[in-house]
Amino acid sequence: MAKNSKRKKLTIAIDGPSGAGKSTVARSLAEQLGYIYIDTGAMYRSVAFRVKERGISPEDEWALTQLASSLHIVFSTEEGLTRIFCNGEEITSAIRTPEISRLASSISKQKGVREALVKMQREMGKEGGIVLEGRDIGTVVFPDAEVKFYLDAERDERARRRYHEMLEKGVKVDFKETQEELVQRDHHDMSRIHSPLKRADGAFLIDSTHRSVEEVVEEMVRIVKVRIQQIKCVE
Ligand code: DC
Repeated sequence: MAKNSKRKKLTIAIDGPSGAGKSTVARSLAEQLGYIYIDTGAMYRSVAFRVKERGISPEDEWALTQLASSLHIVFSTEEGLTRIFCNGEEITSAIRTPEISRLASSISKQKGVREALVKMQREMGKEGGIVLEGRDIGTVVFPDAEVKFYLDAERDERARRRYHEMLEKGVKVDFKETQEELVQRDHHDMSRIHSPLKRADGAFLIDSTHRSVEEVVEEMVRIVKVRIQQIKCVE
């Protein structure tokens, strides 16, 4: 390696619907590459959590924008576990309830909320060396990301994963209800006016339905390495 050469650190965008496995693969990919991992869905959930706590209406765009702009959100990932802090308070588990999932999807349609969070996400990712997952990373937050993925899976498989995830967390849920909520949330996230979920131009489509986390991450690492070679990054 040349003495002053520096390996360029990429920005990697992963988008896709709920239950496609984005968080697990994004965290593992970031770990393998030695990159930062950002779960942008957890940021929308943090806003939703405070909205509920303060009794703000999900339709009050002005109050939501003020709130989203004022939050200080910090992630910490250690030994495969990502913790999230909002204004110094840990809210890792509190934002994973079905109610917060619904509320997060609802408040995420507001333009002001999106603008505030996108600004934070761009600030977090400005140095590269980052894997961000969400719904609008490759389309809006970092349209110039060097590698973009769209991770999908069949609807029933996504519902099954969500259901088991909730049970493991000790949250009592009904499978049919989980499935219906997922369909509704997909519909909201894909049909909203501002930054709807869609596959970004140039995004690699990966279907995780019949594949393990390891297989998906392996494929992603292969694609990232090819990209690093293509843009002549010095290892
Ligand atoms: O990924 P998740 O289920 O934790 O996301 C919760 C909600 O946040 C999701 O229903 C839509 C919204 N979201 C968004 O609009 N844009 C993102 N980049 C990430 C999440």
